[in-house]
Amino acid sequence: MVESQCQSSKKLLRVLDGEPMVPPPVWLMRQAGRYLPEYRALRAKAASFLEFCYSPKLAVEATLQPIRRFGFDAAIVFSDILVVPDAFGQKVSFDQGYGPRLAPIAESADLDRLRETIDLDHLSPVFEAISRVKEVLPGDVALIGFCGAPWTVASYMIAGHGTPDQAPARLFAYRNRDLFQHLIDRLIAGSIDYLGQQIKAGADVVQIFDSWAGVLPPDEFERWCLQPVKAIIEGLRSRCGKVKVIGFPRGAGSHLTDFAGRTGADALGLDTAVEPTWAANRIESGTVLQGNLDPLALVAGGQSLREATIRIRKAFAGRPHIFNLGHGILPETPIRHVEALLAQLRGET
Ligand code: CP3
Repeated sequence: MVESQCQSSKKLLRVLDGEPMVPPPVWLMRQAGRYLPEYRALRAKAASFLEFCYSPKLAVEATLQPIRRFGFDAAIVFSDILVVPDAFGQKVSFDQGYGPRLAPIAESADLDRLRETIDLDHLSPVFEAISRVKEVLPGDVALIGFCGAPWTVASYMIAGHGTPDQAPARLFAYRNRDLFQHLIDRLIAGSIDYLGQQIKAGADVVQIFDSWAGVLPPDEFERWCLQPVKAIIEGLRSRCGKVKVIGFPRGAGSHLTDFAGRTGADALGLDTAVEPTWAANRIESGTVLQGNLDPLALVAGGQSLREATIRIRKAFAGRPHIFNLGHGILPETPIRHVEALLAQLRGET
């Protein structure tokens, strides 16, 4: 076979196969969202955020908006990590200015009220959105599915809302180890089912967001972050074959060096605090790296943005790298700064 026939037209997939590319493929975490006026207009059409997520028509449109405007190399299906507790029967709502709200889990009886297995029918609008996006997405744009990692999802399930350090879930896990393990096991099985359906619907790659990995000490990190992510990846691959997976254990620090190798992730999303040169030198060479521009540098723009971008690109030169932020894009990000970033990256030869 001629070489060009083997290569995907999707830059993101080529990099995930280990090919360094200049310029690198780029997408931004939370790229569909409130910094876009067209997203805010669309969002106004739905009574609630979850209704928005469960409307395939609105979710497809929100997924495509950043692709049309910026031509990113990947689209990420519009949804939220907290649809998973919702599909386990723990009602979720999002209140303006407050964030997510769930009925907190304090004891064994609260867990008993949840379903043993995930209700995939409840999530069918997400799968429908993926297959509809897939039909209309330009051939060179990859489609990313996602879920929250069990620890991060469980931390919202226990507290019932966002907290600065997920202390309620950390305490619950120390005090009720078997019960917490049981919740994590349910989330592992549910995440395999959920991601498996996303792949079936047409996702090219999946990202596992462990946004709260960084608050755990080493033994707890091993037990609640690393092992569950490894179990999801193994389960997913035994069901769907060689699926590409990006892990994002935010705040994992020194655990990053062998996280991908130990979990089986193909790529690792680096958070804002990770020193790019350290990452390029210390993280296993078979791991594709993604990240890690400070979302606030994108808000600031100008010279700070240019310098931060150059620093990241220099550090990852010669290594397969997916350009991204170190965490989600902020609502106050000016659109012209995203345009300037893309112009700078695309000017690289
Ligand atoms: O990346 C994308 O464009 C796809 C959509 C996406 C959303 N949430 C949409 C969203 C993705 C991938 C997420 C992931 C997510 N959700 C995470 C992991 C990544 C991270 O940022 O750490 C977490 C922890 C959540 C939970 C969540 N969802 C919170 C805490 C909040 C409230 C805080 C906030 O940012 O508003 C949300 C709401 C949410 N999810 C919004 C969007 C666009 C804003 C709500 C709105 O538009 O009304």
